[in-house]
Amino acid sequence: MENTHRPSRLAKSDTPVDWATDPNTQRLLNDLSARYGERLPDVLEADMLRREITYDDYIETPTLLSLQQTLTDYHDELIFKVYHQQTELWFRLILHEINRAIRSMNAESLDLPVATESVQRINRYFAVLAHSYCVMLDGLSVEEFLVYRKAFGTSSGFQSAQFRAIEILAGMEKDPAHQGEFYWERAARHITTGEPAMTLIRFKEEHLHHLNKLYAGRAPHSLRISFMNAATGAAPDPDRVSIMAEALSGAKGAEIATLGEELLKMDDAIVEWKLQHLKVAAKHLKRAPKGTGETNWAEYLSKSMKEQRCFPELQAAKGRVAS
Ligand code: HEM
Repeated sequence: MENTHRPSRLAKSDTPVDWATDPNTQRLLNDLSARYGERLPDVLEADMLRREITYDDYIETPTLLSLQQTLTDYHDELIFKVYHQQTELWFRLILHEINRAIRSMNAESLDLPVATESVQRINRYFAVLAHSYCVMLDGLSVEEFLVYRKAFGTSSGFQSAQFRAIEILAGMEKDPAHQGEFYWERAARHITTGEPAMTLIRFKEEHLHHLNKLYAGRAPHSLRISFMNAATGAAPDPDRVSIMAEALSGAKGAEIATLGEELLKMDDAIVEWKLQHLKVAAKHLKRAPKGTGETNWAEYLSKSMKEQRCFPELQAAKGRVAS
């Protein structure tokens, strides 16, 4: 990109300057080199890039705005797509903070206030998402939705891999009573045959391997287990609920109690997100008993909201502390 504001040394003399021998340039470089040492090339490059960068370069607006191709000409489909995309961006930030919170609860780098701040951020992001569901609830034509959704085939938000990663890294456990499956592996059944729907089959093909790996690493790489380790110290205590009750009561210090409270809020924030989502699904699918992949969605979504919690020990301890 041509810079018209800076005076050009070429224009002054009409003869190209030999930078390697030019005394002014050498003096300048010597001064800078004394100041920055070996970092000088990096400093100069970063400075140059910073000066020339534009808003679009940094935000990558053209790329971002190239990602909203719709499958139909229905006006509202763009809203539907953009809303899903913004949700995935917030999910990305939630995962960013989950990872920082986990690192901060690690024994070697224990920093409970940082972990608390991350969980507070997560709760703020979920609150934004729950509030913004009015865009889907009140701002979409049901009539149009029932037509353009046909273009989505068997795809569904059920297949959001980031959402599943959030659940795992928060602390969601597989169900030992069901061959150690994720709870959602028992969902997305065909509404009439009860067989796994294509929505589930395709999702497992694409993501189950990675999600199982995340799950295998959840001890200690999950909020739930990191918090329990931080609260129990080196010796793991078999009575986790008692330890969690102690943590919440403040007997293990104010910092751990505050973090425990924020994690409980996070559990509620996920349920609140699911509740708002259920309201949206119920409104838009009122006249359509089947999910996009012919799924038994109504039964599944209300069950998923009620049963799944990421911090069961903290939930049980909360009851004890309250009583
Ligand atoms: C008109 C709007 C929406 C409708 C009608 C709808 C419908 C559904 C249905 C029927 C399911 C159950 C699974 C299935 O049968 O496919 C589901 C699950 C899900 N949807 Fe949506 N959805 C909507 C908006 C969204 C948005 C904006 C997101 C954001 C990413 C989203 C993410 C999810 C997730 C994560 C699940 C799995 C929930 C769980 O396992 O508890 N959905 N959705």
